[in-house]
Amino acid sequence: MKDQRQEDSPIGVLFVCLGNICRSPLAEGIFLDKIEQRQIRHRFVVDSCGTGSWHAGESADPRAKEVAARHGIHLPSVARQVDPNHDFERFDLLLAMDRSNHNKLLKLGANSDRVRMMREFDPKARDSQDLDVPDPYYGEGDGFKRVYDMLDAACDGLIDHLLQSTTR
Ligand code: 4NP
Repeated sequence: MKDQRQEDSPIGVLFVCLGNICRSPLAEGIFLDKIEQRQIRHRFVVDSCGTGSWHAGESADPRAKEVAARHGIHLPSVARQVDPNHDFERFDLLLAMDRSNHNKLLKLGANSDRVRMMREFDPKARDSQDLDVPDPYYGEGDGFKRVYDMLDAACDGLIDHLLQSTTR
């Protein structure tokens, strides 16, 4: 990744799910909180989006907001659909929440070097056959807690990876 960007330009990170109201807003909020705590917020451009457009303009699902708030985290997202014309150039890394999102990004023309599964960055999940962050939208409330825990672990690994792949 280092070769593809100016050494002093911010690292673009885009979290992608289906609706952009549950998983990717949570990933975005957790990631933002961690880089703020580490005082490295200025080194990143961070956003989230969905492969679908049904919820465009909406803030995160109340259940996602609630689980985030329990950890003191605000979710700033306003849902939008992925924009291949801009997003595939602007962001260095496109983090898919599940295999279906991953496949969709490739089908829309994203460079495969930039598309990764979010849970690849959780050292405990890396060798698992199933790297999906399960869609909690139609399930019970505790699905959001499970998703939160998965994303919390993956965000730590992701930040470590990004810091190792840059020299600053
Ligand atoms: P997300 O969850 O992809 O994690 O935001 C979903 C939200 C809405 C729908 C599906 C998944 N939906 O079908 O409306």
